[in-house]
Amino acid sequence: AAVVEHTFNVGNLKVRKLCRNSIITAVNGQYPGPTISAYEGDTLVVHVVNHSPYNISIHWHGIFQLLSAWADGPSYVTQCPILPGNKYTYKFNIIAQEGTLWWHAHFSSLRTTVYGALIIQPRAGPNAYPFPKPYKEVPILLGEWWKSNMADIEKVTINAGGIPPPSDAYTINGRMGDLYRCSSKHTYKLEVEPGQTYMLRIINAAMNNQLFFKIAGHSFTVVAVDASYTMPYKTDVLVLAPGQTVDVLMVADAPPGQYYMAARAYISAVGPPNTPFDNTTTTGILQYKCNNVPPSTNTGSLIIMPFMPAFNDTPTAYKFYSSLTGLIKPGMASVPLDVDEKMFMTFGLGVMPCLPDQTKCNRFQLLGNMNNISFHFPTKMSLLEAHFNGVQGIYTSDFPDEPPLVFDYTNNALNISLPLILTTTGTKLKRLKYNSVVEIVLQNTALIGAESHPLHLHGFNFFVLAQGFGNYNQDSAQKMFNLVHPLVRNTIAVPVGGWAVIRFRADNPGVWLMHCHLDSHLPIGLGMAFEVGNGPTPYSTLPPPPPDFPTC
Ligand code: C2O
Repeated sequence: AAVVEHTFNVGNLKVRKLCRNSIITAVNGQYPGPTISAYEGDTLVVHVVNHSPYNISIHWHGIFQLLSAWADGPSYVTQCPILPGNKYTYKFNIIAQEGTLWWHAHFSSLRTTVYGALIIQPRAGPNAYPFPKPYKEVPILLGEWWKSNMADIEKVTINAGGIPPPSDAYTINGRMGDLYRCSSKHTYKLEVEPGQTYMLRIINAAMNNQLFFKIAGHSFTVVAVDASYTMPYKTDVLVLAPGQTVDVLMVADAPPGQYYMAARAYISAVGPPNTPFDNTTTTGILQYKCNNVPPSTNTGSLIIMPFMPAFNDTPTAYKFYSSLTGLIKPGMASVPLDVDEKMFMTFGLGVMPCLPDQTKCNRFQLLGNMNNISFHFPTKMSLLEAHFNGVQGIYTSDFPDEPPLVFDYTNNALNISLPLILTTTGTKLKRLKYNSVVEIVLQNTALIGAESHPLHLHGFNFFVLAQGFGNYNQDSAQKMFNLVHPLVRNTIAVPVGGWAVIRFRADNPGVWLMHCHLDSHLPIGLGMAFEVGNGPTPYSTLPPPPPDFPTC
């Protein structure tokens, strides 16, 4: 095992996109940021130096952070942000995981431009993949772009009750593609050798939308999601929620030529879409290498466009998500059958009466919630510090195991009753016994804003036992449970007005956020956190914070 060391200089970067100049926050002058590659078992050391005018912290999305919770990164959860002019070194071991993950800023809306791929090879190298070694591996990062400054976008979003202004473009590896103005010269191009197999490591780093992804004339074999291997699944369309990754094998077996790859929003509305949809699609070009025809002479030729699903094509999205099953490799943890802790969580958007000092609030404000509680981030101290040092008054450990009212979607969807959506705020954590097995029913209420919320759990992977639409029903759901080879994930897009059941072992001490990875839903509180410790504070299995740990 090696030590992989990087320095991330975070600062302003001038770019020209969509016919205008913008100043963005970026790492090492790169957008998207640098790709980190490591082997399972390596130690990663990243010195983050903040030259930007904003507070920042970096999260290593999907990394377990076993015994290194101080390096997880979400602002005010495991650390206070790194202030302008300050630095912090993230140091952690990559243990028992391999595949495609990513890193991103976890403060305000900075992850719009502060993100990059984090690729973990098996310790024995690509020959240890549970599929033939591909000819080449290519990271594909899907993103979202606004013409205006991100600092303003968060303010606008919060003032609109968590409804973000629609983005001006989607991106593939930071490029918009030639369907957007002033973008054709900067289209992302992937050159392929006829007959070879490529592994695309696709990451949805977009802020607020799930995305369909296709390449004209080609099909994919999915081999992993969220850095967990899957049984090979053949499809010509992929769906990724923000936070999720998909690894596919693609054989360059089409007649040599040029083909568009395209990503387009999937807005999972059950009724009419609740977000204006401007019909834009980001494109890149897959181009065959021909020995005697250099690529530059190909530009005049016809490029074939894939036929994209409609923006509200929930059946296609659900078919993709529910068809995937996990590949349990020998030596890997299988599904624990005895459950110690059962929880039922409803989540979605709700309302809270205006506070007396809220001038812009008109009777009610819109908030995200889980079990009718909107998560309020502390500002004085991170939750992990409070947990570790036994500091009182930062949070309470009374997150409820179930919602205050029995939830019945079929009766209430058309007739929203106030008690079902009434939300309070709090910094409530659920305390889990170390090593206990936790099963959570996640019920998407879709009472306000019918959408699929991608829930991301920090610190763990979880097994996805079953998912479906409508009300969760224990008897019928349990018959669907896949306890043999369920999908393993760190982010699950719970179907709109539907449910999913997840299970994991709480074998990692620390404080772990679970939240909606639609970026606009985090500041309005669609999340909660777990605290996992094996004794009275301080938790003996967690080493103390590093000396340069940012405090508030
Ligand atoms: Cu990828 Cu809490 O985030």
